[in-house]
Amino acid sequence: MKSHRLAVLGNPVSHSRSPQIHEAFAQQVGIDLSYEKIEVPDGEFNQVATELLSLHYSGFNVTLPCKGDAFRFASRCSNSALRSEAVNTISIVDETQILGDNTDGPGLVKDITENLGWQIENQRILVLGAGGAVRGILWDLLQASPQVVHLYNRTAAKADVIVKKMADPGLIAVTRASLEQGYDLVINGTSAGLGGEVPDLPTSVLCGDSCSYDMVYGSQTTAFNDWCHRTSGCEIADGLGMLVEQAALSFQIWFSRKVQTAQVIAVLRNSH
Ligand code: ATR
Repeated sequence: MKSHRLAVLGNPVSHSRSPQIHEAFAQQVGIDLSYEKIEVPDGEFNQVATELLSLHYSGFNVTLPCKGDAFRFASRCSNSALRSEAVNTISIVDETQILGDNTDGPGLVKDITENLGWQIENQRILVLGAGGAVRGILWDLLQASPQVVHLYNRTAAKADVIVKKMADPGLIAVTRASLEQGYDLVINGTSAGLGGEVPDLPTSVLCGDSCSYDMVYGSQTTAFNDWCHRTSGCEIADGLGMLVEQAALSFQIWFSRKVQTAQVIAVLRNSH
């Protein structure tokens, strides 16, 4: 039997790259683990998670749509998890100590600032979307000291709710009319791309010096990044680096070991 049992829980999970990523990390540092994909039927998160406790799993990752369930399931949560009310990493100390963390925000910040070498500090940032993906990263983005974060969503009321709840002077909900010109960084956290769509935006939000980060990724340039690059010639990046960085931070939580991510990102990029 493997010494550490881990998994990713969500629905769907069949597409998940997490097993490949964690197996690569484990190999790097000589840890023996198994990492499964477990599809959670509607409304059965607690049942599935409780079963993993009794089977002595070391922990698990959580993906959509179960991050809120995992937040409620954890007995103690990190600040990132508390502020986003979402958990993507569970560590099981014992049946009474189930620790919840959210490495999505720190993973995004690390990819942007360290892998891409883009700046967040003092920058004017536009974040698109107001769903779970965006809620999961805003607090950590604000901790990286941007000048301002404008939050824009097709349904304005949802952005207003998030901004009221975060109550951070650096986070402002904007309407289409109050969007500014030439943001330093635009982060797409909408799910528009899944349907091949691009959020409806004036091209003036971008300039040649802007950077565009799409939190989703794919084998091709995402629809959003394609639009950004065509309209302004700006630099673009997709969310593959964030995926690997959030996994590296989960791995660090479970095993207190830092891992190298560059090579794992490169392997995934070439294995689509
Ligand atoms: P997730 O958990 O992936 O964030 P979600 O909670 O369903 O998914 O949120 C999806 C986000 O993408 C929402 O902000 C949604 O905008 P609305 O709140 O107006 O629905 C946004 N979105 C999805 N399709 C879009 C599109 N075609 N154009 C603009 N925004 C879109």
